[in-house]
Amino acid sequence: MQKETYSFLILAAGKGTRMKSRKPKVLHDVAGEPIISHIINTIISIKKNIYVDKIAVVLGNNSKEIKSFIKANFEGIDIIIQKKQLGTADAVLSTKNIFKNYNNKLIILCGDTPLISSKLLLNLIKLGKNYRIGLSGFKSMNPHGYGRVVLNEYKKVKSIVEESDASNEEKKIDLCNSGMYVIDSKLLFSLLSNVKVNSKKKEMYLTDIIYLASKEDVNIGISYNKEIESLGVNDREGLAMAEKEMQIILRKKAMQRGATLIAPETVFLCKDTKISKDVCIGPNVVFGPGVKIGEGVKIEAFCHIEGVTIKKNCIIGPFARLRPGTVLEDSVKVGNFVEVKKSKIKKGAKVNHLTYVGDSDIGINTNIGAGVITCNYDGVNKNKTNIGNNSFIGSNVSLVAPLKVGSETIIGAGSVITKNVPSNMLAVERNKQVIVRRRNKK
Ligand code: UD1
Ligand code: MG
Repeated sequence: MQKETYSFLILAAGKGTRMKSRKPKVLHDVAGEPIISHIINTIISIKKNIYVDKIAVVLGNNSKEIKSFIKANFEGIDIIIQKKQLGTADAVLSTKNIFKNYNNKLIILCGDTPLISSKLLLNLIKLGKNYRIGLSGFKSMNPHGYGRVVLNEYKKVKSIVEESDASNEEKKIDLCNSGMYVIDSKLLFSLLSNVKVNSKKKEMYLTDIIYLASKEDVNIGISYNKEIESLGVNDREGLAMAEKEMQIILRKKAMQRGATLIAPETVFLCKDTKISKDVCIGPNVVFGPGVKIGEGVKIEAFCHIEGVTIKKNCIIGPFARLRPGTVLEDSVKVGNFVEVKKSKIKKGAKVNHLTYVGDSDIGINTNIGAGVITCNYDGVNKNKTNIGNNSFIGSNVSLVAPLKVGSETIIGAGSVITKNVPSNMLAVERNKQVIVRRRNKK
């Protein structure tokens, strides 16, 4: 069967003033990923169901940051500039050159809805098969701030009224507009030509096309979706709410895939966290972006892990910090108050207590004693430490990089090692212990 063709339009030119931030609203992170990225990725995820012709993002004049983020992370996205932020209808009008004579359907989305699901998009597509205009709506116990969907006496969509224009009666309507629509492109631009500037907000509302269409007896469809999927982030509270809901979704997915989360509500994941089967995660563990965890790994309480690959059967923590660029091979143990940065720790090696390992390569089955520090930074450069297999680094050793320690080598406790140590050696660097009788003691 031939796939139907759709184009997507993401409105993201709004000033986002309610965020009170220097950073554009759509670049704020939810589960370690900017809001706009969640939306683009959801569109990409339904490419198997439909043919996606264009994905266009409408941005404001001062949106260099968003533009470079999109260019760096996605291919083939059209950027369109809305010169002045004169409202959502004006934002769509700014795409006139591309879509006015377009023969396919358009799906219009807001740039501030990180929880949008592929199911919601597929529901809109289904709606588009039967209606020239369809919108996504949801029922809310607390509809404050959202446009309300007004139905006529036959329960058909009649109009959308914005909170600021709603009468007290209309404010009681619990059916809200998600701000996501499917629409025949030519119909869209003919309706937009009749949208007037709203007298209160001095903006042109895209929502006015619904009233204009129903006046022309165009049948308008509505699909009912979950409120949470339509959550529009307008301020910091909205951002926190989106984060909370996204975490619930991600924790559930991890558990469905066979991970144990002992206290799920205290574990924080990123959208890209990859957790295999039979991983056990203790309470209060935080994952930053770029983490992959292999089967059978145990992560004890209070760990912070970011940009790290952990292979099978490792045991981490409690209280470990694993930083970007770190790879732990199978069955590695990293214990309490250990920080590892940009290092490779090979199979079966142990770094169990109070240690800093940075810019290092640690060999198979090597044991790093308590309090060992790799002194990787000389104030100017970061230098590498390389330790071979089956070596033993005693407690409280400082390894001053750049440094190579061979295999099967022992470094005595308390040493400050500044010169390379070959394989099969014992190196000790400390003063001889002196024992003398105390003065005034018989
Ligand atoms: C909008 C809808 C409202 C709906 C809600 C859902 C309108 C008039 N209202 O309200 O019915 O319930 O979304 O979240 O459409 N934008 C531009 N250019 C502009 C203005 C806005 O691109 O000139 C973009 C924003 O960046 C944002 C989106 O359009 O991503 C929606 O704008 P926003 O100001 O968040 O509208 P809401 O007040 O949330
Ligand atoms: Mg909004």
